Amino acid sequence: MKEKILQYSTDELKVTWDKERCIHAAECVRGLPGVFDPKRKPWIKPELASADELTEVIERCPTGALHYELKSSDKTETPPGQNIITIEKDGPIYIHGEVVVKDMDENIVLKDTRMALCRCGQSKNKPLCDNSHISANFKADTSYNAERLRVEPVQGKGGELSVKLIDNAPFVVEGNYDLVGEATGRETCSKKMSFCRCGGSETKPFCDGTHKKIGFVSD
Ligand code: SF4
Ligand code: FES
Repeated sequence: MKEKILQYSTDELKVTWDKERCIHAAECVRGLPGVFDPKRKPWIKPELASADELTEVIERCPTGALHYELKSSDKTETPPGQNIITIEKDGPIYIHGEVVVKDMDENIVLKDTRMALCRCGQSKNKPLCDNSHISANFKADTSYNAERLRVEPVQGKGGELSVKLIDNAPFVVEGNYDLVGEATGRETCSKKMSFCRCGGSETKPFCDGTHKKIGFVSD
C-alpha cells in the first residue's frame, strides 16, 4: 500500500493529506472551497477556516486521505456508533467506523475510521481504491441481496469491524455494520461476509467465487 503524506499546519492544528488515497471525491472542496482549492498551490490553506470547521469537513473525507491533529487539545476523531459500509455505484466500497484491516497472518495493514476499498480489481494501491475503476470502465450498481444478511441475528451496533484480506480472493468483513446501497437501502447486520474485490462476481458486492475462474491476483 502506497502513501504520500503532505502536511499543512496552523497554530491550532495539523492537516495531513495522503495523495495516494485521495480519489477526488471532493467532499472537502464542497465543504470548505476556500480552504481546499485544487487549482491553487498549496491546494490546502487551513489558516482560512477555524479548527472546528476544518475538523468537521475533514471527517467527511470518505477515503481517509485527510486527517487532522489538534495541537492544544486531545480531541481526536470519534468513529460513528455503527460501522457503515457504503457501496458506491461503479466505484469502491467506502467504510466508515472502527475499521481494522488485516492480512491473512493477522498483521494489521491499516487501522482507520474512513477508507475506500477497491472492488473493481484494478487498483494499483490495493486494497485501497486509486480511481482505476474509471479507466477500467467498471460498472456495478449498488443493489445487494439483503436476505443473505438476515439469516443471522444482529449482535449489536458498533465496535471493531475487522476486514481480512484474503490473498487473490475477497475481503472478509466481521463485526456489526450497516450495509448501504442506494438501490437496496440500508440493512443492519452482524453477519460475516465476503465482499468481492476482483470485480467479477455476479452477486456483487458479495463474492461468488469468480476470482478463482478469472485468476485474480490481489497483490
Ligand atoms: S474529500 Fe478526501 S478524497 Fe475527496 S478530494 Fe478531499 S481529500 Fe480527496
Ligand atoms: S473476489 Fe470477486 S468473486 Fe470472489
